Amino acid sequence: MPSFALSVETVFGDGCIAELGQRAKAKGFKHALIVTDPGIRAAGILDSIMASLDEQGVAHSVYDNVTPNPTVPEVDGGVVAMKDSGADFVIGVGGGSAIDAAKGVAITAAMGGETSKMYLFGAGTVPFPNQRKPLFAIPTTCGTGSEISPAAVITDPETHYKHLMLNCTPDVAVLDPNLVAKMPAPITAATGMDALTHAIEAYVNPGNTPFTRMFATRAIQQISAHLRQAVNGPDRPGAIRHMLYAADIAGQSMSQGLGQVHGLSHVVSGRLGTAHGVANAILLSQVLEYHNEFLAPQLLEIAPLMGINAVGMPAKQAAKEVVAQVRALRDEIKIPSKLSDPSVGMKESDVAQFVDDAQKSQGIFIAAPRAATAEDLAAIYKSAL
Ligand SMILES: [Fe+2]
Repeated sequence: MPSFALSVETVFGDGCIAELGQRAKAKGFKHALIVTDPGIRAAGILDSIMASLDEQGVAHSVYDNVTPNPTVPEVDGGVVAMKDSGADFVIGVGGGSAIDAAKGVAITAAMGGETSKMYLFGAGTVPFPNQRKPLFAIPTTCGTGSEISPAAVITDPETHYKHLMLNCTPDVAVLDPNLVAKMPAPITAATGMDALTHAIEAYVNPGNTPFTRMFATRAIQQISAHLRQAVNGPDRPGAIRHMLYAADIAGQSMSQGLGQVHGLSHVVSGRLGTAHGVANAILLSQVLEYHNEFLAPQLLEIAPLMGINAVGMPAKQAAKEVVAQVRALRDEIKIPSKLSDPSVGMKESDVAQFVDDAQKSQGIFIAAPRAATAEDLAAIYKSAL
């Protein structure tokens, strides 16, 4: 994967959404297209966003047709809404799906092609788009890191493949824990495990750098310490503040790419509609277990970050304890442990097709933490059933 400079103007703090209008006006923007999903709108999360824009005389229109695992037609619908409304910048509000859709709208509207599919890496004719409408990202979950990352994940409904769209790092990220606290606990759980997956995959990625490891290290510590509280603890707001910061730096840690957990989970979500964080939470322990001996020296470093007392512990034992800790966290926050769980619905007869999909659509992911054959990937899927 090519490297990208990360330079997102980031605003963080309780109530900081009130600064949105000022920041947009200061940049000379006049009309926002808010890209979101119906649930966010129904939850009233747009109220404080629109109030802040209204206060500064910044007009706004809303496109709320985004679903989990956003598709090419959903992005294309947003591009039409952008043209019809006359908006001059985009605000993505929601989880990774809404922000990714907003990225797709910002790229496609600026590039001018007839469909966003043209700009999908591995599926389109312009894999490195070089123009984008100005883009603000306002996450309402603490997990995806999309507000800081250079890529969007968009599903092609004709093939069910998930593809990356590149070069769409937002200009501004507004991280307000008060907005995130409005989201239900199961979403906090799934997105929190997504963030943990980003940080661990970034840490063990052969392309890691001292900077990505710095972000990953801190993110693993923070998530391990605060995710349980953020899901169902008495100090949920305080823990969500920690998790929002952790998810953002986990997003920064993944700038050199992710690995087989994401490569395999994207197929599950693309085929079965499973929430991204849930699929990752199930597969994370299985990928780490499959490569346990190979990864042992690195998992020994990760162990204390997850609260494991690894002083004097052999690396192989620490590596096993990390897998156990990932499973314990997943179980405590009530995420299914198997891809065969009825809420996911994967069957053994799906394995061959899913491996094929993973190799075709996500080849850049499945190279890490080390090269894997189709047999390796099938074994990992089977172990997760
Ligand atoms: Fe992810």
